[in-house]
Amino acid sequence: MKLKFSKMFAALTALCFLGLFQTAQAKELTGELEIFSWWAGDEGPALEALIDVYKTQNPGVEVVNATVTGGSGVNAKAVLKTRLLGGNPPDSFQVHAGQELIGTWVKADRMQDLTPLFKEEGWMSVFPEGLIKLIGTEDGIWSVPVNIHRSNVVWFIPENLKKWGIEAPKTWDDFLKVAPVLEKKGVVPLAIAQNWTHNHLWESVALASLGADKWDALWTGELAFDSPEGVAVWELFGKILKYTNSDASSLSWQQATDMVVDGRAAFNVMGDWAAGYLSTTKKLAPGTGFGWAASPGTTGQFMFLADSFGLPKGVPHPENTMAWLKVLGSKEGSDAFNPLKGSISARTDSDLSKYNDYAKSAAADFGKNRIAGSLAHGVTANEGFMNDFTSVMEMFLKSKNPEMAAKAAQQIAVKNGIGK
Ligand code: GAL
Repeated sequence: MKLKFSKMFAALTALCFLGLFQTAQAKELTGELEIFSWWAGDEGPALEALIDVYKTQNPGVEVVNATVTGGSGVNAKAVLKTRLLGGNPPDSFQVHAGQELIGTWVKADRMQDLTPLFKEEGWMSVFPEGLIKLIGTEDGIWSVPVNIHRSNVVWFIPENLKKWGIEAPKTWDDFLKVAPVLEKKGVVPLAIAQNWTHNHLWESVALASLGADKWDALWTGELAFDSPEGVAVWELFGKILKYTNSDASSLSWQQATDMVVDGRAAFNVMGDWAAGYLSTTKKLAPGTGFGWAASPGTTGQFMFLADSFGLPKGVPHPENTMAWLKVLGSKEGSDAFNPLKGSISARTDSDLSKYNDYAKSAAADFGKNRIAGSLAHGVTANEGFMNDFTSVMEMFLKSKNPEMAAKAAQQIAVKNGIGK
């Protein structure tokens, strides 16, 4: 009887192993995985590193890396909208954590709930609680974050500043003092590019002018965009714009960064994907080859955004997408992607030894600064507001009228349900 039992036990164990093996076999994925993003060209290397991790784990899947070029997704988002509304969603697409995801695609019931995946992978305790709130609603968790980017950063070349006898401005008043000096030397004080980079600069100026509490109050509806403080933001923004390049609208963000690298311009306010570009593409060393500081007037404040990917409803290869999302949320995937991207990991347990000095400083600031959400990159407002805000910006660039812009911003806030 004893013998029989141990034989039975051995047979059962063998069966269990076979079962596991078969499950592992069953997980051999095949077919395609279409990933949709705006990380093309110079923005591509980090995504490619992530895809490499995926391919190693899933050699049977053919990855289609579908990109539509254009910083901050200016062109990609329009294509994505057509595809989603036309019932032709990619297997997974890039979307910012916050209102761009929740107030747009979750609201339209286009995304699958990923709560089981988060629980299974132990992500509930690995991602910061505040970030999980931004990608979640009462009904679920809707995407997997791949990074934390900082939006309020000013970039410069230390050697050039030395040559010109200036320092990085700590406040916009400092900037407005040093700007005419630079102009006399034939240097553009602040390089800027196409329209969305104006929105990007605007949010850093607003954060400096309002402070983080009042910035937040804009999005809860407690502070009106056309309040005196709101008008003051546009006034300051207008003064700063006088010291930017006139060919801005024809430039990509990388070309504005190039102006700084070449010494045609002194400064550029851009998110820290610029750190990725400067180190990964331009091969400049952080600290010596290129320098950075919190954008003027925002020391101690970290305006953040996070790129994420989700599982849209009705995709052709949901299993392949799930495997992709697992890679995105993993430590291995995150630490392959972020050191090239200029961002820090969204996970709290990343291996900082893999990151350069810029990223290390961003990680330290993220841990101790006052955190605020980015408008230009989807955290604080839905797509409706963002699209309308682009028109408000265009109007301001023509009229340079702060009151008019502030009033228009308040109108679009009401129209798009901001603070409701
Ligand atoms: C942001 C995005 C970044 C970077 C940047 C420039 O919206 O979150 O990852 O791609 O645009 O294109």
